[in-house]
Amino acid sequence: MFKTKVTELLDIQYPIIQGGMMWISRAELTSAVSNAGGLGIMTALSFSSGKELAAEIKKTRHMTKKPFGVNISLLPTFRKIDYDDYIDTIIGEGVSVVETAGNNPERFVRKLKAAGVKIIHKCTTVRHARKAETLGCDIISIDGYECAGHPGEDDVGGLVLIPATANAVKIPIIGSGGFCDARGLVAALALGADGVNMGTRFMLTKESPVHPTIKEWILQFTERDTLLLLRAFRNTERVIRTPSSEKALEMERKGATIEELRPLIAGTTGQSMLQHGNINEGIVTAGQCMGLIDNVLSVKEVIDTIIADAEKVINNRLVGFLKN
Ligand SMILES: Cc1cc2nc3c(=O)[nH]c(=O)nc-3n(C[C@H](O)[C@H](O)[C@H](O)COP(=O)(O)O)c2cc1C
Repeated sequence: MFKTKVTELLDIQYPIIQGGMMWISRAELTSAVSNAGGLGIMTALSFSSGKELAAEIKKTRHMTKKPFGVNISLLPTFRKIDYDDYIDTIIGEGVSVVETAGNNPERFVRKLKAAGVKIIHKCTTVRHARKAETLGCDIISIDGYECAGHPGEDDVGGLVLIPATANAVKIPIIGSGGFCDARGLVAALALGADGVNMGTRFMLTKESPVHPTIKEWILQFTERDTLLLLRAFRNTERVIRTPSSEKALEMERKGATIEELRPLIAGTTGQSMLQHGNINEGIVTAGQCMGLIDNVLSVKEVIDTIIADAEKVINNRLVGFLKN
């Protein structure tokens, strides 16, 4: 069931992708998603070098025989990144899928394609999706305003962005941002996507390495409890509304420089918070769909529930509308 262009192309059972999540999507989460029939994606930038990434890829291979991917974020970072080191590692280790995100992937496309690696390019606008298609990317993951991480600067929600992208490109698309249950999956398929990409839902699973205190803390938030930081720098990030993120936003509005904001927004403090469970330590990204999530399940429970419930949404609810 749920055979789509994306399941065919990626050789997976269900059209459910786990988007790369800095520090979080390592071997345990990545392999759990792939073993449950989706596509797990680890983040290259969680590792300080290609050598470290290679070790995590090998570890993942011991944990799953199914396909999995590696995310390469091309957004501005405080640390200098040797992208070619990561790309060479991915190719050398025989990884079959790469998820690029955050900027134009042009300089890597030819090398990855020559090695037979499939490229999912995650972007936030129709024009960037078109560009990625002309570059030779295989799939577009189109990330709407609702998403965790970087929603871009145009503020278009998935309800418009997904069909607009489906109208504009011929390659398959994945709907991303705001998806966490069966209703979302069915809606994305109806809007023209061939699958969904989820971050926040997979962050709140048993296999996610996030500290249990943080998982429970996030469960209490609603869809209204995020805010957008770094818009002044055209590097907008959706984060959980907390005293720290509100302070950073206030500083940004008063004209603070990126260096002045650095102690508050540095990824290392966010990571330490996720790891050690101190809710006051840093700033953490999450999507608006955290307001729809009220439990921490295993990855398999999440995926099995979405697939089983999607059948019910289609057969019991949607088909019912066609009966007189
Ligand atoms: C904690 C966290 C960290 C993330 N880190 C990255 C990252 O390093 N690279 C990336 O491309 N996307 C990252 N994302 C975005 C996800 O891959 C995905 O696109 C997004 O979460 C989809 O929106 P959703 O959370 O509403 O499902 C992150 C998301 C979360 C929740």
